[in-house]
Amino acid sequence: MEPKWKIVRGTIISPISDKKSKCYPNGVLILKKYSNGYRIEELGAEKILENYQGLRSVEVLDFGSKVIIPGLLDLHFHWVQDDVRDKPKDNLLKWLENHTWPAESKFKNLAYTKKKAKSFSQSLIKNGTLGGACYGSIHAHSVDAAFKEFVGDFFIGNVLMTMNSPDYLLQTKKQAKSLVEKLAMKYRRRYVVTPRFAPTTDEDVMRFGSSIQKKTNCLIQSHLCETENEIEWVLSIFRERKGFEDVKSYSDIYQRVGLLGENTIMGHGIHLSAEDRKILRRTRTAVAHCPTSNAPKNKRGLGSGLFDFKQANKDRIEWGLGSDIGAGPFLSMLDVMKSFVEQNKGCKHATYVSALYRATLKNAQILKIDNRVGDFAFKKEANFNVLNFECSKKSAQSVLEELFKSVSSRKGFEELIDQTVYQGRVL
Ligand code: GUN
Ligand code: FE
Repeated sequence: MEPKWKIVRGTIISPISDKKSKCYPNGVLILKKYSNGYRIEELGAEKILENYQGLRSVEVLDFGSKVIIPGLLDLHFHWVQDDVRDKPKDNLLKWLENHTWPAESKFKNLAYTKKKAKSFSQSLIKNGTLGGACYGSIHAHSVDAAFKEFVGDFFIGNVLMTMNSPDYLLQTKKQAKSLVEKLAMKYRRRYVVTPRFAPTTDEDVMRFGSSIQKKTNCLIQSHLCETENEIEWVLSIFRERKGFEDVKSYSDIYQRVGLLGENTIMGHGIHLSAEDRKILRRTRTAVAHCPTSNAPKNKRGLGSGLFDFKQANKDRIEWGLGSDIGAGPFLSMLDVMKSFVEQNKGCKHATYVSALYRATLKNAQILKIDNRVGDFAFKKEANFNVLNFECSKKSAQSVLEELFKSVSSRKGFEELIDQTVYQGRVL
């Protein structure tokens, strides 16, 4: 029988904002059992243990001075792109055509898809990722298999590709719409309407997706302003179409088909014009910033550019961090956090405290699950990672700086995860 209470001990960090995290060296996390798993009863310093003396059914999990952080959330990744992480990345459009689309077409096979979903689920756990917004392939079973296997708060959609796509991935508009309807009704809020991006999705399919979002209150995700030649391409396609002749920006295309809003997450947003930014702000659309995917080629990214997070903050555009597997080379959100800080070296706002917030609580807010996850507040689910790193410093920024300094290779981030705990149970 599971105990009613669990007491977790370690150096515990709980994010608050870009500027602040709570940090308790020799800290204590009290977990209480509910019908669907353990939740946080209290976080604090050692002395809070006095309030819990005499508990009967209790298990102590003492991790010494190992660092403990909340479960990581990934705001943008393609689970069907695990095999193209290391393929040559000339630029976005060539990489899609030559490597990514052929790899995604393999998911037509159900047995292959099921097998891949099992192993990808293990990779998520090993990297401490317990939720996020995820892209499948065009195939409905790429969504079903992922929902079946992934442990945590995942929101998943099948990509919609009804034009400018290779024959082997091209859907008719009717097929695309009927899949959206079927899967949205099946998974409701957990489903994500996922036009791959405007260049490959007809306007009436995007409009249909928007109408389904309104019915189910699900999320919407797509890509926006990742590279300059993508922007030129999308504008040239849509300016020839009725109702889009005078379209001024990439965002305006999504706006006209009703895809933008506070349930929408747009990947990248690197090359945003002033009009794009105004539209994102006005519609409260969020951006998923994927620093390792956008990184220069010598850092194994697509070389798409640097997201201007300071401008986004000034414009009050919501944004969080994502791995963008497989344009991003590693699944670890710790790797993503480190790249965010390093790419913005010299900027005093790009701190590890901010990176942690953007990979946990902020992403929970954007996914609208911050009432349940994202930090160690009272009654939230006991989702956390115990890291293979000991530190008793008092400030979160110092602990995190030491932690990231200790990792010598990018592959090392997986080894940094000692245990991943979901709803109070070790996975
Ligand atoms: N734009 C359209 N599809 C994709 C994709 O799969 N990855 C990235 N990074 N950008 C895209
Ligand atoms: Fe992507």
